[in-house]
Amino acid sequence: MQFAYLFTKYICLVFLGTKMLWNILTVLSLALFLVHSLDPAFNDDVMGLIVFKAGFTDPKSKLASWTEDDPSPCNWVGINCYPQSNRVSEILLDNFSLSGHIGRSLLRLQFLKVLSLSKNNFTGNINPILSQIPSLMVIDLSHNTLTGSIPDEFFQQCTSLQSVSFANNNLTGQIPQSLTSCSTLQRVNFSSNRLSGPLPSALWSLTSLQNLDVSDNLLEGEIPKAIEGLYSLRAINLHKNKFTGWLPENIGNCVQLKSIDLSDNLLSGGLPESMRRLGFCTNLELRSNLFNGEIPDWIAEMKSLKVLDLSANNLSGRIPTSMGDVSLLKELNLSNNYFVGSLPRSLMKCSDLVILDIGNNFLTGNLPSWTFELGVESISLFGNRFTGHIDYPSISMGASYRSLQVLDLSSNALSGEIPAAIWNISSLQVLNISSNFLSGTIPEAVGKLNATRILDVSHNQLTGSIPNEIGSAVSLRELKLRENHLSGTIPADIANCSALSSLDLSHNNLTGPIPPEIAKLAILEVVDFSFNQFSGSLPKELTNLSHLATFNVSHNHLKGELPVGGFFNTISPSSVVGNPSLCGSVLNHSCPAVHPKPLVLNPNSSDPNHASVTLLGHKRIMLSISSLIAIGAAVFIGLGVVVVSILNLHVRSSMALSAATFTLSGGDDFSHSHGTEANLGKLVMFSGDADFVVGTQALLNKDNELGRGGFGSVYKTELGDGRSVAIKKLNITSLIKSQEDFEREMKSLGSIRHENLVALEGYYWTPSLQLLINEYVSGGSLYKLLHEESSKRSLSWQQRFNIILDTAKGLAYLHQLNIIHYNMKSTNVLIDDGSASTKVGDFALARLLPVLDRYILSSKIQSALGYMAPEFACQTVKITEKCDVYGFGILILEVVTGKRPVEYMEDDVIVLCDMVRGALEEGRIEEYIDGRLQGNFPVEEAIPVVKLGLICASQVPSNRPDMEEVIKILELIRCPSESQEEIE
Ligand SMILES: *[C@@H]1O[C@H](CO)[C@@H](O)[C@H](O)[C@H]1NC(C)=O
Ligand SMILES: *[C@@H]1O[C@H](CO)[C@@H](O)[C@H](O)[C@H]1NC(C)=O
Repeated sequence: MQFAYLFTKYICLVFLGTKMLWNILTVLSLALFLVHSLDPAFNDDVMGLIVFKAGFTDPKSKLASWTEDDPSPCNWVGINCYPQSNRVSEILLDNFSLSGHIGRSLLRLQFLKVLSLSKNNFTGNINPILSQIPSLMVIDLSHNTLTGSIPDEFFQQCTSLQSVSFANNNLTGQIPQSLTSCSTLQRVNFSSNRLSGPLPSALWSLTSLQNLDVSDNLLEGEIPKAIEGLYSLRAINLHKNKFTGWLPENIGNCVQLKSIDLSDNLLSGGLPESMRRLGFCTNLELRSNLFNGEIPDWIAEMKSLKVLDLSANNLSGRIPTSMGDVSLLKELNLSNNYFVGSLPRSLMKCSDLVILDIGNNFLTGNLPSWTFELGVESISLFGNRFTGHIDYPSISMGASYRSLQVLDLSSNALSGEIPAAIWNISSLQVLNISSNFLSGTIPEAVGKLNATRILDVSHNQLTGSIPNEIGSAVSLRELKLRENHLSGTIPADIANCSALSSLDLSHNNLTGPIPPEIAKLAILEVVDFSFNQFSGSLPKELTNLSHLATFNVSHNHLKGELPVGGFFNTISPSSVVGNPSLCGSVLNHSCPAVHPKPLVLNPNSSDPNHASVTLLGHKRIMLSISSLIAIGAAVFIGLGVVVVSILNLHVRSSMALSAATFTLSGGDDFSHSHGTEANLGKLVMFSGDADFVVGTQALLNKDNELGRGGFGSVYKTELGDGRSVAIKKLNITSLIKSQEDFEREMKSLGSIRHENLVALEGYYWTPSLQLLINEYVSGGSLYKLLHEESSKRSLSWQQRFNIILDTAKGLAYLHQLNIIHYNMKSTNVLIDDGSASTKVGDFALARLLPVLDRYILSSKIQSALGYMAPEFACQTVKITEKCDVYGFGILILEVVTGKRPVEYMEDDVIVLCDMVRGALEEGRIEEYIDGRLQGNFPVEEAIPVVKLGLICASQVPSNRPDMEEVIKILELIRCPSESQEEIE
């Protein structure tokens, strides 16, 4: 024995080498020992179960009681035994979170009657051996993740099987023909799989069959015809497949049928006359097929019908009067067919009716207002040709009414006023009377509809204003008043409708401003105020509406500036057009000056190089900021000589702090003739060693332009010693504080030296032109490497990781000095070809601005859309270095996926961070890692890096880690422990 034990263990290890088998073998050998000493029959059960258990995992240890120490399984969880024999009769392990395979060892349980393993996570194929358990009657493997096809042998071997369910798995292939040889079958449920092909042709030879459910598969072909004496069939469900052809002519032979669901197929033809014999049938659902013909008069003989759903077919003719004799009806759905004539009044006899839907037909005549007296919960008469008034019975009759919840009379030709009684139906959840010719006003009583979720009165001829009482309809989610003749203003009380997500007031004559209270409707998604007479400016508070997907205010008389931030940064131009006085970048119509105060330019210089200044003469001229910036550019481009000569300077004297100061000499020595240094310009190099000999047209040459950003354009040029520098021409000149402040900032930034930060080497100052002289980094920006076609180099995973880590180090150093970058994005991350290191540039330029105005900040870094931390849009939150961490998080995702933070598709905007978050939740993140890596990346690094990116990009600043922590985390991610090699 001992030898056999060791030997089998050894063999298995050699051939299979799995941990699982090792476990099985351990228990198996224990079981073998036990078998040796006990009653053999009895122990078939124990052994079968122990080996069965060893084949799957039990993560919640729910089967802890299953131990071979216990000689009888009858007290184990999930096991039932016959009281006399103590043999196992039932295994009931539904919802035990078990996963793994269902092994053949159950074959040992010779008296097993019921095997129920529903709602677990069993995988693999269906083991055909299970049906050989001689006494098995019920097998339920539904709601697992079984794959493969249903094995043919399964049913060939069946002996006493009565009920089989494989529902809700991932089974494929055809239903085996052998199914019909298992003549004991009573209940078959294969629903919600991906089975294809036809039903077995001899299906109806299963004479004991009571319940057949193959719904929600991909089955096709015709329903087998020859139904002879299937007296046992009670329910048949073929819902949601692709069955074609006619119903079997003799379906009425199955006289016991209670439920027929053939909906969502491609069946055609009429209702076979034999169906009139189905007097026990309670549910007949033929929705969404291609049935045609008329509803036969004999329908009344199916007198047990409670649910009759013939919707979405090609049925025509009149609705028969006999329909009223189907008096137990609870639900009648004839919508989306071609019925004509009127609705038979005989339906008044159906006193149990709860749902009546005859929408989208061609019914005519006066609106059947008598249906309101049926006391149903839902009445849908929409999309017909009913005329006349809505005669809703007055409330006094209402006592006997069940509560009406849904009333849809839309798209008819109704006229007159909306009856007052409708506003009193306090149970009403949906009221849709849109697209009629209704007139009159919306009364104050609308406020009584406090259970109403959907109120749609659009496309009528309503007049008057929107009453303040609308604020009492507090359950409203959708309010549609479009295309009427409503006037007046939007009542501020609408702010009380806090569940509102869709508000459509378009195409009316509404006036006045858009009340800021709208911004309190926190879950608003769709707003349409277009084609009205609204005036005033858009309240800034609207940017707080974080769920907005549409905000259409086009064609009104709005003026002023579009709000900046939140949804409004990506609003589509078509949503704001037709308001001539509205301004903002989206409209290509810039607003008049950020700073309304005009600046004074004093062109008192006769500097011949300042041609444009000379042109303006000696008058004092008032200039707006935008023209000032334009002039700055003109000076720069027209008179590049000025700039070039800056670099042709000779050292004049040394300033304090070992910085070298230069003055401009445009040929003559202006500094001497005028003595006002401010007009002449001042060059400071921090390096001290500034031997400029460059005779270069570099800065005039577009080819030397390295890039443009929110703060200016950058050009490459060379110094005398052959060293390249990147010169940034600031375009925020007019906003910059005094020279003194500027120089102080420059000196402070110039003193920062770190291998992952771009060094500031010097600067040049005149009141109208400022240049920053930066270290030149050869490899270009990260943005170019990632997103521009021309960049042939594809970054390896290692390189990407290094870029992320270097960037983190650069940022961390800045934060250590209490400096916020403010403009973290991939265009500001430069890659050095030589040292292979990454350097962060353009930091802290926002400090040059007069105040850290959020508006200026966000408009200056508008190009950084997608990187901007949400707190920029929120006036009350202090901006801290955590805004850089946000931008850095987005940058991580950008580096890993190779996608831009915001991608504009045809009519869609994809926000990287949301996309990645979604993919991570769905467990599909690997699909989103940059395809150019061609799968060459370690998943155990990539996924944590993505997660880190998402944490850094948390909405709430305090949830983001600080950069020091980020570096530590990255270093941990980089060194995955080597010791985890698992044998699979
Ligand atoms: C089922 O197993 C799969 C794969 O082993 C696993 O991903 C999934 O989370 C499991 N589901 C449940 C409900 O346990
Ligand atoms: C009201 O009915 C019309 C036409 O029947 C439909 O288009 C509209 O979506 C419905 N309104 C709401 C809010 O569901």
